[in-house]
Amino acid sequence: MGKGTSFRRLDAFAKVAEDARIRTTSGGLVTLICFALISILITSEFLDWRRITETTELVVDKTRGERMTIHLNLTFAHIPCSMLSLDVMDVSGETQIDLKHEMKKRRETRDGKVVAIETASLNSEAAPLQADDYCGPCYGATPPESGCCNTCEDVRDAYARSGWAIGDLNAFEQCEKEHYKDKLGQQVNEGCTIAGSIHVNKVQGNFHFAPGKSFSGQGGQHVHDLNEFGKSAREKQWDFSHTINEMRFGDRADGYSGPLEGTSKSTTDSFYNYVYFIKTVATRWEFLSGKEAIETNQYSVTGHERSLAGGLDPNEPHHVHSRGGIPGVFFSYDISPIKVINRQVRNKTFGGFLVGSCAAVGGLLAMATMLDRGVWETQKRLKDKKTL
Ligand SMILES: *[C@@H]1O[C@H](CO)[C@@H](O)[C@H](O)[C@H]1NC(C)=O
Repeated sequence: MGKGTSFRRLDAFAKVAEDARIRTTSGGLVTLICFALISILITSEFLDWRRITETTELVVDKTRGERMTIHLNLTFAHIPCSMLSLDVMDVSGETQIDLKHEMKKRRETRDGKVVAIETASLNSEAAPLQADDYCGPCYGATPPESGCCNTCEDVRDAYARSGWAIGDLNAFEQCEKEHYKDKLGQQVNEGCTIAGSIHVNKVQGNFHFAPGKSFSGQGGQHVHDLNEFGKSAREKQWDFSHTINEMRFGDRADGYSGPLEGTSKSTTDSFYNYVYFIKTVATRWEFLSGKEAIETNQYSVTGHERSLAGGLDPNEPHHVHSRGGIPGVFFSYDISPIKVINRQVRNKTFGGFLVGSCAAVGGLLAMATMLDRGVWETQKRLKDKKTL
């Protein structure tokens, strides 16, 4: 008998005899409110558990020797495709001049109507008018692999390879036959959209759109043949106003667009130079849905522009610009050593959800019990006083 009583003393959940229980109206009300609150709290716990948030982690980019693909699409409204060349250079010493493969040029009128789409050279639509066994001379310039300069474009390329400036095009029989100069003439009032992708080493470098054929000059420096541009730019109203339709480093990630995309600049000065300083940051997006992670690059950019005439900045009276240089649009990019990993995570684990729900239910029930008891005791006391 002694054992039974000692355990009974330990019972923290003292039960009340059935006939001693009292149900009150206020108790009913408190219970209802209590259940309403419990369902609200559990719902919010549930939503919290299902919610996906993004965490960001920074690590040092450990990839080695990778290449990066730059996707571009720029519209130059006031300069014909034939005048533009795109070159890529980086600090490793790699140079890609007058890029043609993978770049599309679209000739447009100044108000944006499409004239023609060409993959590369001016004469792609006009097959050379020569016999099969024709092998044109390269006039002493470095010939292409085939050893022959069969088209005017070949001659221009050979001259560029040798680092020579080209003079009057009609002096070359290929160009004369193709009426190359006339074709150039037809384009003078056009604009140009250049789109495509370039592959570069993941090191600091630059790419630029500048007028005239480019070549490696004596001593290996990069030179543009500005002859033609210099002669007619003012008269033909060529300038480097541009719209950047697309500019990204790597694949497109949903919901991210580069800060340059959709921006445009305009000028009426033919000899004007735009430079964009870009820093790319390798970024990986990881998804909970099992979708493959996206590896790409984000970037930040600052831009600078000046007239090649130099002198005082029209907007900032104390800033003086340097003089000279090449007209064009230059992009100088640098690679950050830090990589950003954006990872989708669940806010809470299932265990966390259970613990949260139990805490909500338990806490509310305890509060309700206390409240109900308080109300009941007060009522009882008031009643006792009245009956006294
Ligand atoms: C370049 O952008 C223009 C304007 O958004 C678009 O019309 C054109 O199709 C794009 N070109 C390519 C090759 O994506």
